[in-house]
Amino acid sequence: MKDMLTPYVTDDGRQIGETLMDMRNITLRFGGVEAIKDISFNIQEGEIRAIIGPNGAGKSSMLNVISGFYNPQEGEVWFRGKKRPPMKPFQVARLGIARTFQNIALFEGMSVLDNVMTGRLNHMNAGLFSQALWKGRAEREETENREAVERVIDFLEIQAIRKTPVGRLPYGLKKRVELARALAAEPKLLLLDEPMAGMNVEEKEDMSRFILDVNDEFGTTIALIEHDMGVVMDLSDRVIVMDYGRKIGDGTPDEVRNNQEVIDAYLGVAHD
Ligand SMILES: Nc1ncnc2c1ncn2[C@@H]1O[C@H](COP(=O)(O)OP(=O)(O)O)[C@@H](O)[C@H]1O
Ligand SMILES: [Mg+2]
Repeated sequence: MKDMLTPYVTDDGRQIGETLMDMRNITLRFGGVEAIKDISFNIQEGEIRAIIGPNGAGKSSMLNVISGFYNPQEGEVWFRGKKRPPMKPFQVARLGIARTFQNIALFEGMSVLDNVMTGRLNHMNAGLFSQALWKGRAEREETENREAVERVIDFLEIQAIRKTPVGRLPYGLKKRVELARALAAEPKLLLLDEPMAGMNVEEKEDMSRFILDVNDEFGTTIALIEHDMGVVMDLSDRVIVMDYGRKIGDGTPDEVRNNQEVIDAYLGVAHD
């Protein structure tokens, strides 16, 4: 599944390729509030890129710009070497960008399997009309969708709960189902907004392992927001630090950890 251009290998042996996403001078305002102030950064093919910073720094807003949920007032979004015009989230999803939310957004009354299936909606091209005309194509599509969903269910080890309504699951498993739904879309770029928030230590370890495995086995590029610095240091290849809508740090975990501005604004202060 790897689709690397010119990969190079990082110190810890992971492959990183060319620039996948290039955010150039992004500014996002809500009325008088500047949630993002003239930020530039890139995400390279194959890497795990963390975004950290205090509450209200603009981290979720940044993921929302990447996913097309908000279109910035200023700046340019480049994806796979092309400038992306303003788009709706479903159009961005079709480019191969999937996400999970800071607050779980699943259909609680539906089974795990059905929830994961909704991740395939972007791949369902054959409408009713073409289904009537092109029975073969529709059947092929359905087989592909089923296979992709089964692959993800196996991979994330949720076979045993496939029939269970999501509302009955403990928190950590719900987060895993949300990850499964995002992965079912077979994204090029996966956006995770605080995937470990509210989890206990064991759930965090499981989630960390799955994130690393997804990156490793599917070659999926990942951008994630996370507060737990231990997790960030373990998982990420590079880290962006935001504070009050500005970018105050950008580099490897070690570089960021030793950046005085970052220490003053974020690392030196207590937070959950
Ligand atoms: N939809 C919105 N409408 C108005 N203000 C918003 C909206 N979303 C975020 N903000 C504001 O933008 C700033 C950044 O928020 P957010 O991106 O959620 O920060 P973070 O995820 O880093 O905690 C905050 O001041 C927040 O109140
Ligand atoms: Mg947030």
